[in-house]
Amino acid sequence: DALDIEQRASTGALPPRSRVDRLVSEAYERYASVDDGAVADYIPVLAAADASHFGLSVVSVGGSLHEAGDVDIPFSIQSISKAFVFALVCEELGHEAVHERVGVNNTGLAFNSLIAMELNGGSPMNPMVNAGAIATTALVGASSAEERWARVQRGLSRFAGRELSLDEDVYLSESRTNLRNRAIGKLLQSYGRLDPDPLETVDVYTRQCSLAVTAHDLAVMGATLADGGVNPVTGEQVVSAEVCRDTLAVLASCGMYERSGEWLFEIGLPAKSGVSGGIVAVAPGKGAVGAYSPRLDTAGNSVRGQRACAHLSRSLGLNLF
Ligand code: DON
Repeated sequence: DALDIEQRASTGALPPRSRVDRLVSEAYERYASVDDGAVADYIPVLAAADASHFGLSVVSVGGSLHEAGDVDIPFSIQSISKAFVFALVCEELGHEAVHERVGVNNTGLAFNSLIAMELNGGSPMNPMVNAGAIATTALVGASSAEERWARVQRGLSRFAGRELSLDEDVYLSESRTNLRNRAIGKLLQSYGRLDPDPLETVDVYTRQCSLAVTAHDLAVMGATLADGGVNPVTGEQVVSAEVCRDTLAVLASCGMYERSGEWLFEIGLPAKSGVSGGIVAVAPGKGAVGAYSPRLDTAGNSVRGQRACAHLSRSLGLNLF
């Protein structure tokens, strides 16, 4: 457990580089042997992930890298894509429209819940659950599903600072088994909450979840949100500072699913997880942590990743509160 790590006060900047390097290595060593949790298997191909993989990357807003372990192993981005597609849609439509069309409140229920929509008049509730993410993907301006996918892929690649490509095996495996997401798409349509074709939209969403990233990529993507929308490696302004604020607010309340409150209480950072075992945690104005390890807890959050983020939040003084 990371709770015995001294909680340093937040100072507005990361500690000196050598200390960040040491603490990232320390967090890696400390949790590399933890083997609690289980690899996701509801998407069949994910069950084949190597559970021993563990990578930790910290990227600062100045572009410095601090990494340990398997930071270059590719895995599908899964739900972490939701954060960045939401940012792209905020940039396109603005604060009011996304508030009204998607929502920003936690459901308190599982990420793939249908009942959350039924209990809330068909509202997708927030962009970090599947319903809200599918509704958000539908808002990406495009005249065809192909164009929508191209815009999503290009947008997420700008956050990563490199061309991200599809993991075909994950895409095919998930496409064959995503009946529940197709049901969510149809339910959204029945409530008048989805304009484009629901199955085509779910297909774009499935592709976005199947983009291959590394722990390093996640840290760069998160550091772009920490840096007012400027990718600290490429220098490109990907989205505006206002959009980063909106996105981070939603991550704080909804990014770790029904565990978002506990996460904020212990770690104090906006973050997003995915079922393949990735986590990105963002320290505004400082940088971001990207973590990868496939074994998950019951909510779908990486066990080693959570512990490492807790360690780094405390030892680097990242907690916002
Ligand atoms: O739609 C799904 O179920 C997956 N593509 C993504 C779910 C996910 O990553 C939830 N994470 N904890």
